[in-house]
Formats: sequence, structure tokens, C-alpha cells
Amino acid sequence: MPTRILTGDRPTGPLHLGHYAGSLSERLRYQNEVRAECYFIIADYQVMTDREDTSEVEKNIFEVMLDYLAVGIVPYPFQEPSKGTSVVFIQSRVPQLAELFMFFSMITTMAKVGRNPTVKEEVRAAGLESRMSLGMFSYPVSQAADILLFQPDYVPVGEDQVPHIEMTRGVARTFNNLYGETFKLPEVVISNVPRLLGLDASQKMSKSRGNAIYLSDDADTVRAKIKTAVTDSGREVVFDLVNKPAISNLLVMYQLATGTDMADIEHEFAGKGYGHLKARLTEALNSFLSPIRMRRRTYAGDKLMVAQLLKAGTERAIVEGEKTMQRVREAMKYNYPHIFDNR
Ligand code: TRP
Repeated sequence: MPTRILTGDRPTGPLHLGHYAGSLSERLRYQNEVRAECYFIIADYQVMTDREDTSEVEKNIFEVMLDYLAVGIVPYPFQEPSKGTSVVFIQSRVPQLAELFMFFSMITTMAKVGRNPTVKEEVRAAGLESRMSLGMFSYPVSQAADILLFQPDYVPVGEDQVPHIEMTRGVARTFNNLYGETFKLPEVVISNVPRLLGLDASQKMSKSRGNAIYLSDDADTVRAKIKTAVTDSGREVVFDLVNKPAISNLLVMYQLATGTDMADIEHEFAGKGYGHLKARLTEALNSFLSPIRMRRRTYAGDKLMVAQLLKAGTERAIVEGEKTMQRVREAMKYNYPHIFDNR
């Protein structure tokens, strides 16, 4: 049996360097080196946890898919079986996910969900303390369904998602205890890249903080953004997360763009100033992003094909998901053979 992984993104906009450093590079490793069966969920239901405006969701599904394709994710049915497949699918189009979430919500206590630190943090960030929706409260249970429906071995995610994966394992354990061994307990894999900060060097890179470099940014935009990037006091370029967090962050970007060891990078910049670092970083980022941009543009010109790939992945996810759901209904005795005559 090939290794199977599952992870995904909320379609709230195009992806940035932080996504690449923390997640996309790891996915490419699973796809190309481990040759795993990769499941990538575009979690469109989850967009609504912190907003009601749904006008951009479809557009953003395309944006995310274009970024996937641009960085080298090769989706089913394009991939040769020997190279590992990536099944990219849309959450709301796999009805089995809603069904499984319903069952999971019955075997999960409010107390357990209420303790989730990531949800608390997101509620605070979105200013929803006094009007958190039921959907926001319970989305980790929905995410448990996202994961467990596909029986993955590993779930590669950022640190902030760890409570969700722990909850997922808890749900799987509870279900297995109640209704018999049905779910494999997936392992969380946390990416070992240091967290990429934004250009403000004070918070992690994110769309909502306006401090991101997007994979789709053109060369001039990247140059302008690096120009405005915050630096530290002093003038030496050294990797020192405590005393030089801003410079260290630019060095991490340089490392990402060039694939060089940090020791070699420090050597390269020894005796050089911040201006030199910014100039070299701009060049490095632009040559790193250039092929990504090119592929993105090619796919963006063929929306029909992108749509076909999303549909094909979603259909495949439905087939896989239904296999698990049949076992779930049977285990729970909700398959009703005497009513629906199915074995
Ligand atoms: N919550 C994840 C995020 O915001 C996205 C996501 C939804 C996800 N379903 C998932 C991640 C299942 C891993 C597995 O990044």
C-alpha cells in the first residue's frame, strides 16, 4: 500500500511564500520523492468560519489550484501512477464529508471542542468573541471528517493545526471504541522550516496582515515589497533570530529561494550591508518565482482545463470517500439493509 497523506487550504486568496516554505515544499516532497498518494482538500466550507461573504470563493478556488499547479503539484489524472498522485478536491462537493461530520458531531463533546486553542485564537483574530457561529465552533470536527474520510497515514500541517489533528485522532479513537475498528489514526507531520514572518517582521506572513509576497507577484512587485521590508538596527547581516529577527527572516527567504545552507549564506553576506542583502534577495526570489509564474500564466490561460482537473479530483475523492462511508454506515448500523436492501 502506498503511503497516503492529506492536507489542504482554505480558498481565501492566492498562496504566498509562507505557504511554500511551510507546506507546499513538503507536499512536493511527498508527491515526488515519497511518491505518496496525496489528497489536497480545498476547504471551501471552512471559508465561512470567519465570514459570510462568499462572493470570492469560486475565484479563490481557481487561485489556489493555479498555485498548486504552478509549484508543481501534478493532479490526478495527469500523474503517472509510478510517481505518486495528487488528488485535489473541493470540500463542499464531496457530500460524504457533510455526512461524516454529522456523525462525528454526535460523538464529540462540547467541552472537548470548546478547549481548542486554535479556534479561540481565530475567533479573537476575527473579532467574533460575541458572535461565534456554530460552524466556527465545530469546524475542527468537520476537519476531522475531512481527514478521516480518506484514511491517510500522515497529515502534514503547520504548528497551528496540531490541536485539530489531535482532535481528529481523538474522534477516530472514540468512533473505533464505540462502533469497532474503522479509522486509521493519522500522524501529524509538522514542517521543520522556521516559520516565515511577513515583510513587517513582526507577525507571520499572511494575507490578512498585508505582509506577504505572493507566488503570483510579478518581478516589480517583489522588488518593491523587498524594498519596504523592515530591517533591524545595526548593519551586519547575521542569522540571529533573537537580536536580528527581521534580517534573519530575509535570510530564511533567501535560503528558500536559493536552496543554500544557512552557514554558506552567512559566509556570502559577511561584511556586506542590508542593501546588498535586499538586492541579492530580490534577484533570488525573482529567479525562484520566475518558472512558477510562467507555469501559472500558462494554466491561467486554460481555465477549462483547470476546471476539468478540479472535477476529476473531486470525483475521485467521492469514490474514495464513499468506500469509507459504507464502512461507517455499516459499523453504526445506519446502512439499514432491511429498508434499502443493500448488503
Ligand atoms: N484548517 C486548514 C488551514 O486553515 C485547512 C484544512 C481544512 C485542512 N481541512 C483540512 C488541513 C484537513 C489539513 C487537513 O490551513
